[in-house]
Amino acid sequence: MIPQSFIQDLLNRVDIVDVVGKYVQLKKGGANFMGLCPFHNEKSPSFTVSPSKQFYHCFGCGAHGTAIGFLIEYSGIGFVDAVKELAQGVGMTVPNDDDRLPPAQRAEAQAKSLALSDVMTRACDYYRKQLRGAQNAIAYLQKRGLSGEIAARFGMGYAPDAWDGLKTVFPDYQNEALVEAGLVIDKSEEEGAGRKRYDRFRDRIMFPIRNTKGQVIGFGGRVLEQGEPKYLNSPETPLFQKGSELYGLFEARQAIRDAGYVLVTEGYMDVVALAQLGFPQAVATLGTACTPTHVQKLLRQTDHVVFSFDGDAAGRRAARRALDACLPHAGDNKTIQFLFLPAEHDPDSYVREFGAEAFEAQIKDAMPLSRFLLKEVAGEHDLRTAEGRARAQFDAKPLLQAMPASALRLQIVRSLAQMTQSTPAEIEALFELAKPVARARIAPPKTSRPAPVGLERQILRLLVAHPVLAASLDHEALEVLARLVPERTEIWAQLAAASQAMGEHATFAALAEQLRATGGEFEDLIAEIAADQESDVNTARLELAGALRQTKMKLLKAEMEQLAASGLQSDEARQRYRQLMMQQDQLRREAQSESGQG
Ligand code: UTP
Ligand code: MN
Repeated sequence: MIPQSFIQDLLNRVDIVDVVGKYVQLKKGGANFMGLCPFHNEKSPSFTVSPSKQFYHCFGCGAHGTAIGFLIEYSGIGFVDAVKELAQGVGMTVPNDDDRLPPAQRAEAQAKSLALSDVMTRACDYYRKQLRGAQNAIAYLQKRGLSGEIAARFGMGYAPDAWDGLKTVFPDYQNEALVEAGLVIDKSEEEGAGRKRYDRFRDRIMFPIRNTKGQVIGFGGRVLEQGEPKYLNSPETPLFQKGSELYGLFEARQAIRDAGYVLVTEGYMDVVALAQLGFPQAVATLGTACTPTHVQKLLRQTDHVVFSFDGDAAGRRAARRALDACLPHAGDNKTIQFLFLPAEHDPDSYVREFGAEAFEAQIKDAMPLSRFLLKEVAGEHDLRTAEGRARAQFDAKPLLQAMPASALRLQIVRSLAQMTQSTPAEIEALFELAKPVARARIAPPKTSRPAPVGLERQILRLLVAHPVLAASLDHEALEVLARLVPERTEIWAQLAAASQAMGEHATFAALAEQLRATGGEFEDLIAEIAADQESDVNTARLELAGALRQTKMKLLKAEMEQLAASGLQSDEARQRYRQLMMQQDQLRREAQSESGQG
């Protein structure tokens, strides 16, 4: 569970206009921004984003929500992922489960991670120093066409041919952190006597893997010349997860910005060689399939990604995995392309054989995602037969469903329709694409309580739109409200408490996000506020005062009517009646003086 306070803080820091603006082209129109709704097909914009409410709302299909809600619906990702993505964009770290650990344990975990990264840095320095004196390694790198400068830029090193080379930098060779970092391997007792612990990397060219902050979090080690395995990699550690790290991303960041795209390859050597050969914008997956996390990370750096794969069957399989990973993130302002090299080539060998210009041309000519997707679904099916066309549609369904609703998806639907002798509408109906899938999924259950009406609704709406007002409700106001609708006495105190707890972060967006978690009760109201004109808090404050007064008036009247109906028999009743009349006058005077001011 991510604490509510973090969500509030986050919503306070991100600007929904930036978030939505990454996916939807927005134009300023009055106080709001307008654009074409990404959640339904439309030709004229009815999608609005309000900077002051930090909320979006579509007058066409009713979609609405905060920046978090937008990412969830647009990308089809979960709540936690959406929060993580937004947090990353503004440099906040989502508190993980560690933060709920007792302080002592948390300190221990932090110390551990510090120790790990310290160990990695020291090992990296050691390997680098070793490379300077290793003639065989230097000769190998030269043979691969790499300069000393490039090797230095990537922090490349050499692990000497020794069982305990790291002992020179880690006199405490038995230190637990060395195992955890994956730098040494402990031989189990049963395997017999002799050396119990030894270096994982021996006689290998070392490629340090850095995270986006530049910290060394792992290594890949290549044998010189022949040998098995060709590459040895660090095991996964708390610092290093292959499914989310990309080799070379730290080094390539500026070049990616300059080139306007990132080139994703499959090998360490490709990245380093390409940097040498004029393509410093290259990165590589770490011997694993491309994951949605990889894609997300890449799209945070640039909106144009070119994947390069070998033209053989393995390359094709890898490309298909990459396609799957891209679909949830494919959008109208993203360009994703797939480059298939001749079977026996990788980017490194291709550039060396055909030159940088030829490679550049290949990149320019790379297959767009839409074409690759259609090619994949056409597969080997015979599209001249009904069965073949149906099969292609069947294969396309999960792919299209994985895509966010977008103009690009619509285009692909069109092409698929043509290819399979159908209409776009038929495809959309068949694939249930008409309404955004994510929306349907998160639609909250309706509660059976009657919807608030009249004064109650008006006040609720003011309080939810402006939680600072809810936070400032005093005891008297809360009591009056509690009497307003007897079936719903607790709701006001809850709203007030939630808003007070939010303190300075008591905004509509933050409250809406919190209320969403409590079930669907407020959904209609939130939609209504989202669709409303901007309302200024001071106006709302006056409106609230008026509504509270009306509530009091209503309660007074009800009580007076009741007393009158009972005939005002006792002194007590008559006295109470007079009291109520006086209160009524007082309220009327208040109302007059206020409307006189305003
Ligand atoms: P390649 O075999 O294509 O190697 O593996 P390469 O990167 O082109 O290197 P050179 O040109 O032969 O020196 C591609 C990637 O697959 C992973 C590594 O990440 C490698 O960069 N791999 C490969 C391993 O992890 N282990 C292996 O034994 C082989
Ligand atoms: Mn290679």
